[in-house]
Amino acid sequence: MSGRLSPIDTAKFVAAKRACDFVEDGMRVGLGTGSTAAWLVRCLGEMIREDGLRITGVPTSTRTAELARQVGIKVVSLDEAKWLDVTIDGADEFDDELNLIKGGGGALLQEKIVATASDRMVVIADKSKQVQTLGAFPLPVEVVPFGWQTTKALVEETLAALDVLGDSGTLRMNGDSAFVTDEGNYILDLHLNRIGNARQLALVINQIPGIVENGLFIDICDVVVIGHGDGRVEVKDVNTGVTQQDKIDFVDTENLFSDLGE
Ligand code: 5RP
Repeated sequence: MSGRLSPIDTAKFVAAKRACDFVEDGMRVGLGTGSTAAWLVRCLGEMIREDGLRITGVPTSTRTAELARQVGIKVVSLDEAKWLDVTIDGADEFDDELNLIKGGGGALLQEKIVATASDRMVVIADKSKQVQTLGAFPLPVEVVPFGWQTTKALVEETLAALDVLGDSGTLRMNGDSAFVTDEGNYILDLHLNRIGNARQLALVINQIPGIVENGLFIDICDVVVIGHGDGRVEVKDVNTGVTQQDKIDFVDTENLFSDLGE
């Protein structure tokens, strides 16, 4: 790819590039899923090729595994790695406490397992993902296909009694068929508009039989790297309370964009 990146791609790219500072030689790294995480995977691939970085990657989806292998990252399963030094992933929303909604790309289950099995989770996102209160983005929930309509009805009934501003769920589709996750499950997108108590919701939803996992990441994320369209980044650490500002200078004709095509 030659020519300039759009502001949104620049924001995603600079967040990913800055997040590479959290990766050191020899680390076991959880690799997220989505368009922002794809930038991270490309940046790590470049560091392997150009700087001789040696890392082991645990991908959170088949898509990410494929890209990671393409760019030269050594890919292993979570069971092989056992525990990770850091996981870097995107998010659909994050709030001031760095609680997240994830799963827009349908990979929330592996993403949550991998992030939880990491010393540190770093989220990379453009500024548009930052919210005061979670819930404008529909909350993805992974459900087993067996009896999913009954599960959906139970979820909606449960939501009616909780601190949310909507209680309808829709089955995520892939064309004319239900979207199927890497684990062979379906996704219900819950249209809640505003989640008053994300911690409570995350716990209650997971009690319903048929629910595998929900896309609320509570107390899992440690750091968020927020990218801006002009190359600025903010790095906010929820544990120390420190926010750093930075600017990433780059030339967008670098070979790390070569897999994007013209
Ligand atoms: C995939 C995810 C993604 O991290 C989330 O949807 C953000 O994606 P993108 O970086 O493309 O905006 O949770 O399941």
